[in-house]
Amino acid sequence: MVQGGDQIGPAELEGDLPMPAPEEATTAAHAGTDDENVHATRAAEVLRPHAEEAFAEELAALAARDDRPRPPRWRLSPWAVVTYLLGGTLTDGTVITPKYVGPRRLVEVAVSTLATDRALLLLGVPGTAKTWLSEHLAAAVSGDSTLLVQGTAGTPEEAIRYGWNYAQLLARGPSREALVPSPVMRAMAGGTTARVEELTRVPADVQDSLITILSEKTLPIPELGEEVQAVRGFNLIATANDRDRGVNELSSALRRRFNTVVLPLPESAEAEVEIVTRRVDQIGRALDLPPAPEGIDEIRRVVTVFRELREGITADGRTKLKSPGGTLSTAEAISVVTGGLSLAAHFGDGVLRPDDVAAGVLGAVVRDPAADRVAWREYLETVVREREGWADFYRACREVGP
Ligand SMILES: Nc1ncnc2c1ncn2[C@@H]1O[C@H](COP(=O)(O)OP(=O)(O)O)[C@@H](O)[C@H]1O
Ligand SMILES: [Mg+2]
Repeated sequence: MVQGGDQIGPAELEGDLPMPAPEEATTAAHAGTDDENVHATRAAEVLRPHAEEAFAEELAALAARDDRPRPPRWRLSPWAVVTYLLGGTLTDGTVITPKYVGPRRLVEVAVSTLATDRALLLLGVPGTAKTWLSEHLAAAVSGDSTLLVQGTAGTPEEAIRYGWNYAQLLARGPSREALVPSPVMRAMAGGTTARVEELTRVPADVQDSLITILSEKTLPIPELGEEVQAVRGFNLIATANDRDRGVNELSSALRRRFNTVVLPLPESAEAEVEIVTRRVDQIGRALDLPPAPEGIDEIRRVVTVFRELREGITADGRTKLKSPGGTLSTAEAISVVTGGLSLAAHFGDGVLRPDDVAAGVLGAVVRDPAADRVAWREYLETVVREREGWADFYRACREVGP
């Protein structure tokens, strides 16, 4: 009797608690065994899947068709990596979308560098897709873009070499178990691609810890009297900002370990419009925003304004302009348009219009309230106002700011 009562009590209580119903629990357990399922669900839920997840199908199709020689531990041949980056159509009709829009030769140099014993340095002004290209290179070459060190003024040596789990270290002393490998160490051990973002922001003495890694291809661990030797297939991609030059410029010893590829700004307005449209569409789909192509006129306008102000001259070459201090990069055009689409979706009629982008344009152009405002005002009154078909854009800009 007592026993039975006890059994009923807790069971009734449980009914009130937010416990998973038995069916749910079974489904979850079942899904847990189905690798592919979990992968797909995760990729759909994650705000920004890694390149190798987002483009898993393209990478698999390329790997299946790719019969050219692959360097040790590469997932694809250098040719297939370039196709992944620049896009193309495979013999079976599979379409590979372009990830990077720019000179083919430059991408070929970047990819072939990774197949040598020299590391790759991507250099350029902000917003020229250094980070983007580095992620896609790592995804295509190694199938893993996550071995990443973010360089800042506060990046410690442990972030590039290794650190310790202090609880383990105190309990058992230095051992392999207590060692916390850096992404670079893991890439060396696995023969894959490591990434270092914003290398020139890293303090000079910390940068120097890369010299032994890149020249001797080994990472000594003096505390254990051991070393981790890089396995074939290991290489490193670093990015650095042109404008940071002089902050912590690379030592010549380190510079010699890298092949440098300078990423240019898009060469034409059409190329830039294409980049912005494609990226906005991708980002917008992840955020359930309206399709970008319907706002193509506005995208053209944002790109034109950014290019003209960046270059200090109108597209027809007739009027000289004051350039504001902001970078007005492709990346910023992408965020202005994405922000505009969000406005259009939530507060407008779902189509991108001038007053959806005006505030974003103003925010990107006027960084310094004094000087930039003068430049913007002048541009607005002498160029935008007079331009045929731009009256609605002019009005929208006047409404959001002085
Ligand atoms: N030439 C290009 N081809 C493709 N995408 C580009 C290009 N230039 C800029 N982008 C886009 O700009 C965005 C920002 O680039 P990012 O890699 O963060 O710039 P960086 O690291 O050079 O400052 C990315 O979403 C990328 O898709
Ligand atoms: Mg970057």
